[in-house]
Amino acid sequence: MVNQTIDLLMKHCSIRKYSAENITQEQLHAIIAAGQQASTSSNMQAYSIIRITNKQLRQQFAKLSGQQQHVVEAAEFLVWCADLWRIHAAVSERLDEENDNLELTENFIVSTVDAALAAQNSAIAAESMGLGILYVGGIRNKIKQAAELLQLPRYVYPLFGMCIGYPLEEPLRRPRLPLETVLHENSYSREKQQAGIEQYDQQLLDYVKQRSGGKQQFSWSDAMTRRLAASQQRSDILPFLQERGFIKK
Ligand SMILES: Cc1cc2nc3c(=O)[nH]c(=O)nc-3n(C[C@H](O)[C@H](O)[C@H](O)COP(=O)(O)O)c2cc1C
Repeated sequence: MVNQTIDLLMKHCSIRKYSAENITQEQLHAIIAAGQQASTSSNMQAYSIIRITNKQLRQQFAKLSGQQQHVVEAAEFLVWCADLWRIHAAVSERLDEENDNLELTENFIVSTVDAALAAQNSAIAAESMGLGILYVGGIRNKIKQAAELLQLPRYVYPLFGMCIGYPLEEPLRRPRLPLETVLHENSYSREKQQAGIEQYDQQLLDYVKQRSGGKQQFSWSDAMTRRLAASQQRSDILPFLQERGFIKK
């Protein structure tokens, strides 16, 4: 079953090279409004988006994300934040002083999911206009510095950045795990995983070889091993979040 929306979703591919062409304010507002229309837990809308237009700030974000040059080059760079501060501002005077339910892990999940759902709606909206997008989790390499640069209040944390702009590349689409590996019926099927992993390892190996013109060679399991073995694992995130009032109980 295919329609225009599914067709667009199936064409997604992260873009890391952008033209200098700007996007209009009308486009930007349509992208953000589409994000805002995403489902949101109990209508909490627990997120904020910070648009980075200052060139120097862009440079700082590119650097702290691990020298990701597209952060500077894309027409837009948005930082998506989980935001419980707005709710705190709305209700704090109405609740008992000792009420600290905002600090429940549940509300960390709510705000993080809300931000991610809105971001993905915006990403699709942008792609529907022929724009390319890239999520930039690299900003969490230096999450404290990112929060300071944006002068984020307590109860707000930077989840990821997003580049948006006109693509200057048409990368080969990255294949996904076999559908049967991620779709289970009634209970989790551990048995199906090994075959799915093996099949995908081969598929990704072929993809990587093709995309890199034979220069790179690794399977999905290789990539996952490398990721988990890396010494830099952003292990400062839990204390950072707790200091800001998230996941305290
Ligand atoms: C939350 C999130 C953070 C990401 N961070 C980065 C990043 O910092 N740099 C980057 O080049 N790609 C980043 N990506 C892109 C992923 O690597 C990419 O989506 C994935 O490999 C699948 O490829 P595709 O989007 O081209 O299909 C991120 C993706 C997500 C969802």
